[in-house]
Amino acid sequence: MKILVADDISQFGIEKLQNLPDSQVRVRTGMSEAELMEEIADTEALLVRSQTKVTAAVLEAAKHLKVIGRAGVGVDNIDVPAATRRGIVVINAPDGNTISAAEHTFAMLITLSRHIPQADRSIREGRWDRKSFVGVELRGKTLAVLGTGRIGTEVAKRAKVFGMTVMGYDPYLTEARAKELGIIHATFDEAIEAADFITVHTPLTKETRHLLNAQAFARMKDGVRIINCARGGIIDEEALAEALQAGKVAGAAIDVFEQEPIPADHPLIALKNVVLTPHLGASTVEAQENVAIDVAEQVGYLLQGLPFKNA
Ligand code: NAD
Ligand code: MLT
Repeated sequence: MKILVADDISQFGIEKLQNLPDSQVRVRTGMSEAELMEEIADTEALLVRSQTKVTAAVLEAAKHLKVIGRAGVGVDNIDVPAATRRGIVVINAPDGNTISAAEHTFAMLITLSRHIPQADRSIREGRWDRKSFVGVELRGKTLAVLGTGRIGTEVAKRAKVFGMTVMGYDPYLTEARAKELGIIHATFDEAIEAADFITVHTPLTKETRHLLNAQAFARMKDGVRIINCARGGIIDEEALAEALQAGKVAGAAIDVFEQEPIPADHPLIALKNVVLTPHLGASTVEAQENVAIDVAEQVGYLLQGLPFKNA
């Protein structure tokens, strides 16, 4: 069984794959599409995180591929319809990084409300400036959680502990579930119009691409703050940069981008009221171990003809 690991995944997952009967595991990261097409030709299982793009062209070259394992939640870097057409199973690891992503989102929320990176930078630049960094409390503020799945729910629970009012928008959120969580069941318009902070936790799909765009920003409260630790593309980054420059949006904390790595001339980089991290939501020791083990286990089951859970 030839298994190719094309992105950095935890050694715990790699060991699980190596321990499968008759497995040959190759780890080769940072490949171009052409290199991947060559490397994948004789491969039965491919493991990736979000960096490797598994395109229709790659799948065309993968004559023996049975399964693609994604060590994480989002499968938007994989052409799932093309894989399905070729009978290739796509397996993800949906639970292992939930808490890490929720904690990163919460770190971003607090960072945003208290200008922590900007204040840190100013001290390092030799200033003792207390006037420029007056923050706002979270207590008593309204947080809109757009997408109340695994991560959105964990963020909502933490926000409640901080004394925030939480409004949840999700087509699958029921009144009963909202009540159980102690949050307000809202429409998209109600949530974005009432919020002081807005955080997105949906997958990137046709419906969620540019969910927060110029029209949405116009309807928000003046001084709203925005967080995206879900997927680049859910927010229209150009519209966000314009809303920040105009002062409509007071701040944004962004972990994921339409293009990763982001180009050096990206409009958000030049703005002071923005906190940026390089897709770190799942980058904890715990989450990386969890997702690598989970996905390696399921891929192993599939390769051995045993029951498995897929995306
Ligand atoms: P999930 O499937 O548990 O939750 C997603 C929720 O979004 C679901 O409840 C779904 O009903 C809802 N949704 C779908 N379309 C919607 C729409 N149009 N409007 C409102 N809600 C909608 O997924 P999750 O594990 O909570 O992950 C959420 C997102 O976070 C994914 O995009 C995932 O890839 C991303 N993520 C990012 C990181 C990171 O490193 N930054 C880490 C983990 C997950
Ligand atoms: C995910 O979808 O799980 C995250 O983006 C994290 C990752 O890619 O590692």
